[in-house]
Amino acid sequence: MISHEPILWSDDYLVGVERIDAQHKVLVNTLNEANARLAVNVTRELLEQITRDLLSYAIYHFETEESLMREYDYADQSAADAEQHRREHRAFSQQVVALRDGLRDGRLVSREEQLSFLNNWLVDHILNTDKRFGEFLNRRGCSG
Ligand SMILES: [Fe+2]
Repeated sequence: MISHEPILWSDDYLVGVERIDAQHKVLVNTLNEANARLAVNVTRELLEQITRDLLSYAIYHFETEESLMREYDYADQSAADAEQHRREHRAFSQQVVALRDGLRDGRLVSREEQLSFLNNWLVDHILNTDKRFGEFLNRRGCSG
């Protein structure tokens, strides 16, 4: 049995680009829901659904940000930031896949560690990496 404090949404998480902020709220809710549902014993079917939902929303959201990077030439302006940003996205997706595979194989021991990685990752990524990207977009006149 595990239990995590949910991530409480706060305006500190706003990056100043409406579509990114709206998706971040959904992503925080999806991760909170995954934490809550995985805190109790679940069937294999349910845990696959939870991790699938989390992964597909995360991928959809990362694609939104990465298409904004292309649209606004982020890699040309800030190559190191853009590369680091994309690398962090891949790390999150890989960790969700690892969580899914671990749960599938019955390796429950690392569940708590993996979920706290995802929680910490999301907060840290939004507050640092996404905020830096948001400031870049704002400077380029993008806030919607
Ligand atoms: Fe991001």
